Amino acid sequence: MRIDAISIFPDYFSALDLSLLGKARDKGLIQFQAHDLRNWTTDKHKTVDDTPYGGGAGMLMKPEPWGLALDEVLGVSPDTDATSNATVIFTSPAGEVFNQALAYELAQEERIVFACGRYEGIDQRVVDYAASKAKVRLISIGDYVLNGGEVAAIAMTEAIARLIPGVIGNAESLAEESHSGEGLLEYPSYTKPAEWRGMEVPEVLLSGNHAKIAAWRYEQQVERTKRVRPDLLPPESN
Ligand code: ADE
Repeated sequence: MRIDAISIFPDYFSALDLSLLGKARDKGLIQFQAHDLRNWTTDKHKTVDDTPYGGGAGMLMKPEPWGLALDEVLGVSPDTDATSNATVIFTSPAGEVFNQALAYELAQEERIVFACGRYEGIDQRVVDYAASKAKVRLISIGDYVLNGGEVAAIAMTEAIARLIPGVIGNAESLAEESHSGEGLLEYPSYTKPAEWRGMEVPEVLLSGNHAKIAAWRYEQQVERTKRVRPDLLPPESN
């Protein structure tokens, strides 16, 4: 998979050089490139924002640099009918909310381009233009407002990339984690020592009885999900 991100703060994305994602890039499982939107400005001050028509607080991102950036990164042009096979994701608190199911869906894509807005967002014509050249989605990572889309794009990149075969060493761990399979939260886990600061590991986990362990873990998942995230359970179980 190839992932690009267009942003006025491309340095944010250096976090993706680290850990498993960095290794996946070294192995060629994913390619990632961050681009500085200001490279596509044409004025001395490299201006990317302006005041909104109709008034209102704050500044909006101007369409011109975004248009040139998307043309180059997607390999399209306003003068031809050529389209891109990429999915362009505009990060926005006004988008559909990202979750594990969406991560699995996006992990099937060949190419993703994140368009990271700042200020009060991007001129709507940029989104409409992108939609005429590629698949477009507006995605939020949750019901809160960040200063820009970079952190959201990094969070989504990590959630998507770890689902690509070969990125995570132990693929079984994907099936057992929260928001996978039945959609229950993960059970609590323990490692050595068996007693720490007066607290003991639940007896059943030391029993060696795999059926009992599986049943205990499932109970814990249901109990935790009911307590912390009842919205994840089907309506009849609440
Ligand atoms: N930009 C600002 N807030 C955001 C959010 N919650 N998700 C995605 N992009 C954003």
